[in-house]
Amino acid sequence: MDFLYQNTSLVSPKEILKEAERLTPYIRNLQTVVRENNYNYDESFINLLFDKALLEDILKLKNKEISNQLKYVIDIGIGGSNLGTKAIYDALYGYFDLVEPRRFPKLIFVDTNDPAFLVRLQKFLKNEIKSSPEILVVVVSKSGTTTETIVNLEILMKSFPWARERLVVISVPDSPLIKKAREKNLADFPIPKKIVGRFSVFSAVALFPLSVIGLEIQGLHEGAQSMCQQCLKEDIFKNPAALSSMIIYLHFRKGKKINDNFFFHPELESLGKWYRQLIAESLGKEKNLKGEVVNLGITPTVSIGSTDLHSMGQLYLGGPRDKLTTFIWGKHLEDAPRVPLSVSFKGILEGIEGKESTEIIRAILEGVKLAYQKKELPFTEVVLPDLSLYSLGEFMQFKMMEVLFLGKLLNVNVFDQPQVELYKKETQRILRAR
Ligand code: PA5
Repeated sequence: MDFLYQNTSLVSPKEILKEAERLTPYIRNLQTVVRENNYNYDESFINLLFDKALLEDILKLKNKEISNQLKYVIDIGIGGSNLGTKAIYDALYGYFDLVEPRRFPKLIFVDTNDPAFLVRLQKFLKNEIKSSPEILVVVVSKSGTTTETIVNLEILMKSFPWARERLVVISVPDSPLIKKAREKNLADFPIPKKIVGRFSVFSAVALFPLSVIGLEIQGLHEGAQSMCQQCLKEDIFKNPAALSSMIIYLHFRKGKKINDNFFFHPELESLGKWYRQLIAESLGKEKNLKGEVVNLGITPTVSIGSTDLHSMGQLYLGGPRDKLTTFIWGKHLEDAPRVPLSVSFKGILEGIEGKESTEIIRAILEGVKLAYQKKELPFTEVVLPDLSLYSLGEFMQFKMMEVLFLGKLLNVNVFDQPQVELYKKETQRILRAR
């Protein structure tokens, strides 16, 4: 993965160096977390990457739970408990499910309590599932008490006789959900207590459902490990996460409070939404670390190239100059269809004859970047070698560590979400009172 910023980020090396030292003590802390290799720190999610026993345990449970008849895995969870899984699944398969209806096993995500979706899902499963080995339900909730998740679980358990024997619970060891699952002798996979939802993608939260559908999850860990090593370097120019965080921070200080992530692959939209949560929930805070009210945050947005050039492009290029953009694109992609040399509708558009669709989309991307440069709008680029599990692992680790560094620069606690807890409590209060 390459992180490109020179000439386009509109931040000078001098400006970066002036602030860089602020990150050094924290980089040293992170080095200690990795050296100690335990799950005692808030940042210990980094050690998931080096946890061989974790991969072995996931594979053992997977081998116990799957059969070659498996067709559907229902993933019940919300927020940090499903966004990472969906990001990876959609990048590799989910986006294409409509045009590959006979590729199995498929993952179906159930997060909110949308009645229209639940009704159709129930009908679909009634028609599709002929025997219990064809299905597996994975319910993921760190707290084990999230309303949406528990409600969806109850509805599925009630509707289908197979649900009980084909259920795996993923939660922290002492959550009410895992305790009940154990009482009922259901399968479970505990996750370390210190791992916060939005930083949990490299735990069983995502790795178990992804391995069940046949993905070589080790590739994700390998990509993330290599990125992690780079992001522990003290030289900011060799540390992509620290560098990216500094560029975002310097622009934030100058009023660019919107962070637009422009993915030039529609199958990466869910990856964008995973990162959106990471930035929004980790950095959007009422109070800083000193307890002062700051109401601070960076607003992340996700754009898809080239689709959103036809909906958001005008705003981005002509509207308020309040954004820092990152273009994300992959270098080597599979063989692409070509426009024929002799086109059917001659004379409408010049210069397309014989070109691969990759060349066309690349030309559009180049055009957008030049337009941003002409307008002096700042941007960086993340160039992935491909869209493999290894590259996705690199990208996700890069972004999680970037957010850690941003937390330090902005002086906020990236690991809590008091206002999300507030809505959860209020919802439960209302439901209890009715
Ligand atoms: O990142 C987070 O902490 C949140 O988004 C949680 O993952 C989300 O609220 C779901 O919580 P739980 O996993 O406890 O069901």
